[in-house]
Amino acid sequence: MIINKFASFFSKAIPDWDPVPETHAQQYAESEWVIGANEVLLNELECWLGGFSGKKVLDLGGGPGQYSVAFAKRGALVTWHDISAAYAKIAEQKAEDHGVAIEFSIGYMDEALKLLKADYDLVFNRICWYYGFSDRSFSRTLFALIKPGGVGYVDTTHSGWHRESLSPAGQLKTWLNDCFSVKIGHPFPPHGRLAKLFLELPVEKMQIDYSTETNDRLLFRRSQVG
Ligand SMILES: C[S@@+](CC[C@H](N)C(=O)[O-])C[C@H]1O[C@@H](n2cnc3c(N)ncnc32)[C@H](O)[C@@H]1O
Repeated sequence: MIINKFASFFSKAIPDWDPVPETHAQQYAESEWVIGANEVLLNELECWLGGFSGKKVLDLGGGPGQYSVAFAKRGALVTWHDISAAYAKIAEQKAEDHGVAIEFSIGYMDEALKLLKADYDLVFNRICWYYGFSDRSFSRTLFALIKPGGVGYVDTTHSGWHRESLSPAGQLKTWLNDCFSVKIGHPFPPHGRLAKLFLELPVEKMQIDYSTETNDRLLFRRSQVG
């Protein structure tokens, strides 16, 4: 936590700093937009929310915006938040192409509480959990952004995935985070940690999906109280 937070201070000192090269953003965006937002997931979220219409949705680490646009097309009031100006440009263009209005916010996911009002009906976090400063602190930040009674969704690769193919430095970082919760850089969280972290908080209901070998997927409702 301290180490990643410390590193973020240096990056902020560089004007127009973007950790994502434009070519990478374009390639990822192209592949994700071909796949598109998963309709089964959208329908499931819609059920949990009781409809998207008029609901406040935060796409935290929204990247190319395929989910932001899909939520907005279903009538949600969407905020896209991400560190990357390259992705913002792509997502803005996509929103325009699809004729939907989305609010754009650039910054660290961990600092979203400083920039946004913490009253979202849904906070959606897909394939970017590991960029958080630490698993514990980021779980608290994400949870605080959800309004009481609102819904959280997280889908992340876990540290069991391709662990053996990591560099020695990558393996060391993963081991430090897995065993001591010391996070340097962006190791994936250990399988099962996220569910435990959120279950320490006032959660009314949680759906845990470990059906793939690679990812932890959580869908939960924050209690009305607490
Ligand atoms: C693999 S992409 C996933 C994008 C999108 N959520 C999706 O489902 O396709 C990871 C995203 O995390 C963003 N990101 C990386 N570090 C970040 C940070 N510290 N704060 C906010 N966004 C970050 C990147 O700019 C990128 O958009």
